[in-house]
Amino acid sequence: MVTLTVDGEPCTLPRDASVAAAVLQRGSIARTSARFGNPRAPYCMIGVCFECRVEIDGVRDCLACLVLAEDGMKVRSQHEIQPSSGAG
Ligand code: FES
Repeated sequence: MVTLTVDGEPCTLPRDASVAAAVLQRGSIARTSARFGNPRAPYCMIGVCFECRVEIDGVRDCLACLVLAEDGMKVRSQHEIQPSSGAG
């Protein structure tokens, strides 16, 4: 078993589990969308949809479904709202 934190909350899961599994186990969102701020979460679990982008140990835009969970990792959801362009 490994223990990491997701948005500051501890999460314990099997050694071969992905960071995306930790995000889902916590019931967390991975990020909010850049345009409208909609909540997004891991979906495909195979590195295709890019909905699982999180910050891992200070590195943004990691695909959580492709990274194995390790003891002591600090995972944070990303909030990507950009300043409004005035459109939609
Ligand atoms: S869940 Fe789709 S790329 Fe990670």
